[in-house]
Amino acid sequence: MNKNLSSNSVIDLICSHHSVREFTDEPVSTEMREAIFNAARASSSTCFLQETTVIRITDEEKQRKLAELSGHQHQVLTAPELWIFCADMHRNIQLVDNCDTGWIEQLMIGCIDTGIFGQNAMIALESLGLGGCFIGGIRNNIEAVTTLLDLPKNTFPVFGIAFGHPARHNELKPRLPSAVTFMENRYVEPDPEVLAQYDREMEQYYAHRSTNKKATNWSKTVSPILEKERRFFMLDYLKRQGWALK
Ligand SMILES: Cc1cc2nc3c(=O)[nH]c(=O)nc-3n(C[C@H](O)[C@H](O)[C@H](O)COP(=O)(O)O)c2cc1C
Repeated sequence: MNKNLSSNSVIDLICSHHSVREFTDEPVSTEMREAIFNAARASSSTCFLQETTVIRITDEEKQRKLAELSGHQHQVLTAPELWIFCADMHRNIQLVDNCDTGWIEQLMIGCIDTGIFGQNAMIALESLGLGGCFIGGIRNNIEAVTTLLDLPKNTFPVFGIAFGHPARHNELKPRLPSAVTFMENRYVEPDPEVLAQYDREMEQYYAHRSTNKKATNWSKTVSPILEKERRFFMLDYLKRQGWALK
């Protein structure tokens, strides 16, 4: 019997990912929360340092404040679950007498491992029929978020995930073609025609999606983000927190 080796339920689930920003009032059960966190902490970890900590927000006033600090994001305010994913060297530093901290590589490990941890959580929650949205907006006011959550030195909040039972699903967003993102043996400059074709596809997507229709394409959405300095305070903040000193 021929087994289809290019598709299975895990791959189908991952490929059907779309951010969910509107939720029903139904709470996420304890069993679901535990399953999601167990899947998240099963992620790979650089040198098995396990430098991620998740803070679940159950205090309504803190959730309101985090929504405000994230740029008044509606989904942060209304999500039944709001988890803040933090890079955390603090826990390990307590175990080592002469810890040599502040290296950029340590910052990278914190970001990479926390990102993988979060993506595991996203896949797990989607597999349970829930939906969610990463919230990088918490870094808009990272100092205030750090104070609000009592984060010690050698930690920082990398992103949040707001999630719950979906009230509305978005259409899938087309991704860049593999012709420009998957290469063999060496780096190859992207074919401008492939990018132009992708821009035409995204123009159609933005024009016809069910909400927040826009007359734009992918390149045009990238420009304003890359043209101006963003979160200019980040390096000073990270240094104060004990990261990125050398
Ligand atoms: C680290 C990270 C931070 C993000 N921050 C936000 C955010 O603050 N607010 C938001 O609405 N979406 C946020 N997103 C979601 C992206 O906008 C979204 O994943 C992207 O547009 C692709 O859409 P899709 O997830 O529906 O496929 C973030 C995604 C990532 C990976």
